[in-house]
Amino acid sequence: MKETPMRIRTYAVAAVLAVAAGTAAWALVTPGAQAQSADPEAPPPTNSPLRVLAARDGLRIGTAVDTTALANDATYQKLVGEQFSTVTPENVMKWQLVEAQRGQLTWTAADILVNFAAAHGQLVRGHTLVWHNQLPTWLTSGTFTPAELRQILRRHIIDEVTHFKGRIWQWDVVNEAFNDDGTWRNTIWYQALGPDYIADAFRWAHQADPRALLFYNDYNIEGLGAKSDAVYALVTKLRKQGVPVNGVGLQGHFGTQYGFPGDVAENMARFTALGLDVAVTEADVRSVLPMDNPKTQAQAQGYSVLLQACLLTRRCISFTVWGFTDKYQWVPGTFNGQGSAALYDENFAPKPAYHAVQLDLALAAGTRRR
Ligand code: G3I
Repeated sequence: MKETPMRIRTYAVAAVLAVAAGTAAWALVTPGAQAQSADPEAPPPTNSPLRVLAARDGLRIGTAVDTTALANDATYQKLVGEQFSTVTPENVMKWQLVEAQRGQLTWTAADILVNFAAAHGQLVRGHTLVWHNQLPTWLTSGTFTPAELRQILRRHIIDEVTHFKGRIWQWDVVNEAFNDDGTWRNTIWYQALGPDYIADAFRWAHQADPRALLFYNDYNIEGLGAKSDAVYALVTKLRKQGVPVNGVGLQGHFGTQYGFPGDVAENMARFTALGLDVAVTEADVRSVLPMDNPKTQAQAQGYSVLLQACLLTRRCISFTVWGFTDKYQWVPGTFNGQGSAALYDENFAPKPAYHAVQLDLALAAGTRRR
């Protein structure tokens, strides 16, 4: 059957990564393999880990990782390795954390995650090189000329991408550069450098690691609208100028109180028509608490809206959730009175949303040919 070469290829890539990491990680690379029959053509059982089901369609399924939880919580660590085939550091590659003091680069926490990923046959999404948030104080409170800021930004990108060279699959090079109405966000970078900092950032990242896939990443661009139009115009222009941009990340922060766009696949299609990859990079579906049955079902639908669009899009190469358990999820700390946004609850019990994702992957199995 046609899905066999895909599965072999996916597992082979993972095996190469595992071998490269000096580990015998076959059991981790193919966690569902034990449950499969002797027939190599047989599909994995529908209750297989998400990564096993996603692999049949050449899709990487990922999670943002809280590296403190990864170090201290055995159940969390087990599920990261078992369920996901790509990981994104939730915070520890951000500028504030890697260069809290100017010139003192700290990679320890991020290195641990990158090594964990290699040992578990996972790829890494690097997050994020250029953002207006979580910047070091020396940068935000300093006084710099535009020329100095440009050099500081260049130095940061080159330093970070060079440190992780060869170990990052996709970089979120520029994150959240637009307002919701499609105008430029008035960030430290835009104020000093105008929109040209974006092309520069991609060129510098490419120079430091020519093999990494370079993404523009933003929220509220999942469906068609003013903001996704602005991103579309940006990447169209960058491609025409020969700027090395490879993809667009649709973050996917949804809320059951808002409903979900019906045109995500259509939106993805216009990006891929430009020759770009797309990825769902930060999916979660929050609710105003307390939860009830309709919200729980709506949450599952929200994840499906994103995942089904991705599965329908040949060049949607990864689907990442922004934290897989409510035990360590960012929403309650940001949106007062909201939460329950993840696939698993605080006790690591899978919710209907998890089963919806699992079923979507199982149903799609083998329908994407790459
Ligand atoms: O680590 C410090 C700790 O030392 C301190 O005691 C504590 C006190 O507030 O703060 C801790 O830092 C927090 C950090 O997360 C690590 O937990 C920050 O306050 C908190 O603001 C930060 O929040 C992160 C947020 O980005 C910052 O904007 C979230 O964890 C993270 O999930 C979130 O992720 C973003 C993506 O990068 C971009 N897209 C949106 C997404 C959700 O906001």
